[in-house]
Order: sequence, then C-alpha cells, then structure tokens
Amino acid sequence: MKVTVVGAGAVGASCAEYIAIKDFASEVVLLDIKEGFAEGKAMDLMQTASLNGFDTKITGVTNDYSKTANSDICVITSGIPRKPGMTREELIGINAGIVKSVSSSLIEHSPNTILIVVSNPMDTMTYLAHKSTNLPKNRIIGMGGALDSARFKYRLAEALGAPISDVDGMVIGGHSDVGMVPLTRLATRNSVPVSEFISEDRLSQVKEDTKVGGATLTKLLGTSAWYAPGAAVSALVQAIACDQKKMFPCSALLSGEYGLSDLCIGVPVILGRNGIESIVELDLNDAEKEHLNTSAEGVKKTNGLLDV
Ligand code: 2OP
Repeated sequence: MKVTVVGAGAVGASCAEYIAIKDFASEVVLLDIKEGFAEGKAMDLMQTASLNGFDTKITGVTNDYSKTANSDICVITSGIPRKPGMTREELIGINAGIVKSVSSSLIEHSPNTILIVVSNPMDTMTYLAHKSTNLPKNRIIGMGGALDSARFKYRLAEALGAPISDVDGMVIGGHSDVGMVPLTRLATRNSVPVSEFISEDRLSQVKEDTKVGGATLTKLLGTSAWYAPGAAVSALVQAIACDQKKMFPCSALLSGEYGLSDLCIGVPVILGRNGIESIVELDLNDAEKEHLNTSAEGVKKTNGLLDV
C-alpha cells in the first residue's frame, strides 16, 4: 500500500506521521515544493521509527511527482492555511490553482489512485478536483466532516463530563464556520441520546463551539490547526487502505442524494478499498434538512467563484 501526501506542512506531516504509526502502509511519499523540506520532515519522522515501532517507509521529495507513481491513495494538503480572522473561503484564490495543478500531476503518475482533498475551502476544492480530473466520483473524497465530528465529540464530552470514548456524534454539511450541521439529535453517550443528559441550551452551545472549532484554534495558534486534521485524514486513509467499510461524514459529489446535486458537501459515506463505497441517506428532520440546504447554498456560492 503506497500513500502520497502532498504538502509537508503541519497537516501533511502530521498525517504522514499518524499513517506511519498505524503501520498499515508500506510506503508514504511526502512531497513539497520547498527545496529539501519534505526530505527533512521524512528523515525526522523516519528517525522516530525505532521509537514509535513502525516499519512504514517515509520518503521525502521536492516537487518530483515521478516518485509518487502508482500511489494507491493521494492526499492533497497543499495550499495556504488561514490566518486569524480569515474564513476558509478566502483561500480560494490561491488554493484553487494549487489543487488543480497538484491533482493533475498526481493522476499523471497514479491514474488509479483515490484522492483525498484537505486544502481549503475544502468542499469547493473537492468539487474542483472532480471537475478538473473527471475521476470516477467514488475516488475523490473531501476531508472535513471527520475533523468536525471529532471536534463535536470533544465538545459533547466536555459538556457531559464524560470520556470521549463514551460519546458518538456526526457533523454533516459544509466544512465552513457557518455551514456545518452538527447532528445533536442523533448524538449519544453510550447509545443514550445526549439530550437525556444536557439541556437544549447547552447543546446549542456545543453546536456553535463545534462550528467555529477551526477558527477558535486559528485564533489561539495564529494559523490553522494540524494535529486533529492530520489524524482525521489518516483515519480516512486507513479505512480505504484496509477496506474497513467504516462510515465517516466526507465531502462527496452528490447526484440527487439529500435532494442535492452538482456539489461536494459533507454526508455520511461508507469508506472502503474503492473509496466511497456508498452514500448513506439519513432520515433527517425538517430542521436538519433546512440547515443542510442552507449549507449547500453556501458551498454552491463558493463554487461559483471557480472558473471550471
Ligand atoms: C480546520 O478546520 C484546517 O479546515 C481545517 O482546522
């Protein structure tokens, strides 16, 4: 199993590290455009192998896509991260060109690969990858909901005073500060609806804290987060690589599911060796449907800024 991660910045390097530590891939190629940067990150990571107990081979390359050839899975993290006060959507001007070029270079050397898009604005970048590569739609996946759901579970556990391992919850919709749809109605504490334990007001606060989870960290860190994004990507890569048939909310190209078409937005999907094995249509209530539709309008508005 060969995995390529484009972008050796904090998110890409964290993703490579988590993939290596999980030790399900034979090789991870870390590529960056900055001379020597990916080589240095890869060497530093390889020097943890004996300490962290993995045999995965991590190789760093500077802008040489021939070294990514025949990758089973390719992750695109390249592009600029946001600064405090910025929205993800403001990154489109620079990141669209990068994602288009990187996608093309990856597929030239790995025509059968599965693409995972992380670069922001992620739903629009995922849509761009579809439009510019014409890969089968099951082989292009946007990573946002897995990260947002992890933040949702963190906030739920905080509100419940419970261990995160007791909590389950999912965020669908756009990966944006206003477009996320945390499904509080379906969230559980060890199979019991969380509404049994916390008030509607507190749940509303959990929902709002989740939606701005990325912006909260960007304000604290001065740049976008990387540990949880990297971990979320590695979970998707593992589900695909190991054919786990796990369900994650991912940005998928819709063709009528949830009454939506011609956009990529976060919905529950089953991930396996073919990438998106299927899209799961939840029985949403009217309020959830309205939130998802509003979110879709926001994503389509950002898509409109693309020249595809
Ligand atoms: C985040 O929410 C980088 O969009 C990513 O942290």
